[in-house]
Amino acid sequence: MRDNKKKVFLKTFGCQMNVRDSEVICGLLERQGYQISDDEDKADIVIFNTCSVRQHAEDKVWSAIGRVKAKIIGIVGCMATNYRQAIFDKAPEVDFVVGTSDIAKIPLIIAEIEKHKDSFLAKKIYETDSDHREDEIYHTGFHLDKEHAFVVVSEGCENYCAYCVVPYVRGRLRSRPYSDILAEIKEDIDAGITKITLLGQNVNMYNYKEVNFIELLKLVNSVNGLKEFSFITTHPKDTTAKLFQAMNDADKLKKYLHLPVQSGSNRILKLMNRGYTREFYLDLVENYRKIVKNGTLTTDIIVGFPTETKEDFQDTYELVNNVGFDAAYIFKYSVRPHTQAASLSDDVDKKEKERRHSLILELQKRISLKKR
Ligand code: SAH
Ligand code: SF4
Ligand code: F3S
Repeated sequence: MRDNKKKVFLKTFGCQMNVRDSEVICGLLERQGYQISDDEDKADIVIFNTCSVRQHAEDKVWSAIGRVKAKIIGIVGCMATNYRQAIFDKAPEVDFVVGTSDIAKIPLIIAEIEKHKDSFLAKKIYETDSDHREDEIYHTGFHLDKEHAFVVVSEGCENYCAYCVVPYVRGRLRSRPYSDILAEIKEDIDAGITKITLLGQNVNMYNYKEVNFIELLKLVNSVNGLKEFSFITTHPKDTTAKLFQAMNDADKLKKYLHLPVQSGSNRILKLMNRGYTREFYLDLVENYRKIVKNGTLTTDIIVGFPTETKEDFQDTYELVNNVGFDAAYIFKYSVRPHTQAASLSDDVDKKEKERRHSLILELQKRISLKKR
């Protein structure tokens, strides 16, 4: 009987949010009798859970589609919401396209496609318009890691940073009921998992009824059996000394903060619509280091944002040099559809972006080495 199960190979592109979504999809498919396989060549169905954050992320998916041998191909996740049915025009071999808030429908969609695949009724299906996920999808118990689990606390994002496609592909901000988050963590613990990472595009904005993010941290910290937890990502504009105090007070919380600065130039930060200044950011870092003893600090940086001059870049370089991050993820600006910055000319040429990218990369390498 087992051998009759259809095999699904699912590859994840992009961030931890997608890693968790892929587990959700696998759990839902297993429930419907599919077998999750790690052998792409032998799979009946291949699904790519995709990322749209930079052009490069999308290019990887387009070229991977061309190599698929399976009979049924699905594109799900952020590119699905970004391109909708236009994916079928660019990649006619794709059978279904499912957006970030419609993932619960994947098993039914596959069943429908399988039914008609070889007949004249064969069809392509796309579902990209929901703005809501049922909480039950998080409770299938499917986990890739036996010790650690990601737990989504909020979906979507409403910050509209000028360069970022995420609000358009992940929809408005929705905070999950804290009772459900806690129930999921307890299920994880019952399954032997003792480490958790809470996920949200901007966890500071978590708010469900009377519970804000700081309250949520306290609730999670008190879950019996949980040994360690952390969270990503915090947005500097909503990060406060109160959060640092809460980090210090929660004994199970890892003293780790990912605080993306993006740029050290006030002019560029304003164009990016980030809602803070370089000085505000530096004050936050100072406070963090005062309050959270031995806390680690990491960041994200974009080089080559439209109009970024050598002086703007120098401001970023100096900020990185002065702060001394434990790690920094450095990205070259990439124009994204729908975004505010897409109306600006992408005027820092490719070579200059590469030069700025490698200068900060080298600097951060030296800093990270010293910290070891
Ligand atoms: N919500 C998180 C993650 C956003 S995406 C946050 O706010 O930090 C992860 C990183 O990708 C961002 O922090 C940013 O540095 C980078 N990024 C987003 N859009 C980009 C773009 N258009 N070009 C280059 N890098 C981008
Ligand atoms: Fe994108 Fe900004 Fe939201 Fe992060 S906070 S996901 S960078 S819009
Ligand atoms: Fe994540 Fe990429 Fe989507 S970074 S939210 S998978 S656009």
